[in-house]
Amino acid sequence: EKGAFPHYMLKEIFEQPNSLRNAMRGRLSRDDGTAILGGLNMTPQELRGVDRIILSGCGTAFHAAMVGEYVIETLARVPTEVEIASEFRYRNVPADKNTLQFVLSQSGETIDTLAAMREARRKGIKCLGIVNSVGSTIARESDGGCYIHAGPEIGVAATKTFTSQVMIMTLLGMLFGRIHHLSSADGMEMIDELEAIPDKIASILTQTDRIKAIAEKHANAEGMLFMGRQANYPVAMEGALKMKEISYIYASGHPSAELKHGVIALVKPDMPSVFIAPDDAVFDKNVSNIEEVLARKGPVICVTTEGRTELERLTDDVIYVPDCPSYLSPLLTVIPLQLLSYYTAVARGCDVDKPRNLAKSVTVE
Ligand code: F6R
Repeated sequence: EKGAFPHYMLKEIFEQPNSLRNAMRGRLSRDDGTAILGGLNMTPQELRGVDRIILSGCGTAFHAAMVGEYVIETLARVPTEVEIASEFRYRNVPADKNTLQFVLSQSGETIDTLAAMREARRKGIKCLGIVNSVGSTIARESDGGCYIHAGPEIGVAATKTFTSQVMIMTLLGMLFGRIHHLSSADGMEMIDELEAIPDKIASILTQTDRIKAIAEKHANAEGMLFMGRQANYPVAMEGALKMKEISYIYASGHPSAELKHGVIALVKPDMPSVFIAPDDAVFDKNVSNIEEVLARKGPVICVTTEGRTELERLTDDVIYVPDCPSYLSPLLTVIPLQLLSYYTAVARGCDVDKPRNLAKSVTVE
């Protein structure tokens, strides 16, 4: 039940410290500095033989897969490709016996994702499911996989299942990384960082008043642009999808540097840009993009790392997240974006848990 929360979506956003603890539970081996994912049903030899990974899903799960590509390639250097499930099934994606496919799906019933899995298996590609619903069709038909254990998600907009899918992507990155070049000391350090994430999310969740005020200030925007780099580019896409889905404001997510290649033509006073600009190797690059938007009188909302207060010289609307390694950043930066879309939708009087024209599980093509 919703309990004290006015909407399931808000309740589920607040569940994230716990749902992420559940996603990690029993899966971190401190002794070996690695992840244990027994449901993959693969021996270390078989895992070592994987030289290419394909990740498929739809909507939010597709965005989690995009973060997965970044995390797996960063940690394990195994070439990883993301294919939207609906496209995978109608293409002939190169794959061989050393390719491993994962399909990501909260419901485990999305028809395009299911069809992508069936097509892969028909071709003899091993396909594993990253699923929330226990006993769902994808869970039953796949060659194995990993439940995200996020618990029931009632709000149509996916929130806690996104972060849990990203968590599993990170565990996969760690597992493959440890099979290749990461040391056990690297792995142990990663475990410390992973275990710190739930409390960091809890601290972001204490800032709802600030995020609500920012949402209300921009609730009448004509549209919104979301910008990020590296693993925060998919977070920008996810922030835009949430905004569209529940507040009906047109929004799109872009790599920050694409601004000059066309997007900047949209910048104007009633078109805010949301920058995901944590303190990382590309922080200064994001700041120059922010300045380009401000110079064209576009309002800017920033998600950045605690301590980066210089952004307050550029805009009033700064939201802080705790520091973390850049490969984990999406787990923190997406939280303010979920809340931003939530409070925008509430301010606009939208039906947050049941947005128009959408179903929780899409079982038709
Ligand atoms: C967005 C959303 C959808 C789903 C998509 C895939 O908030 O909920 O984009 O992510 O329909 O659904 P699953 O994960 O059930 O396959």
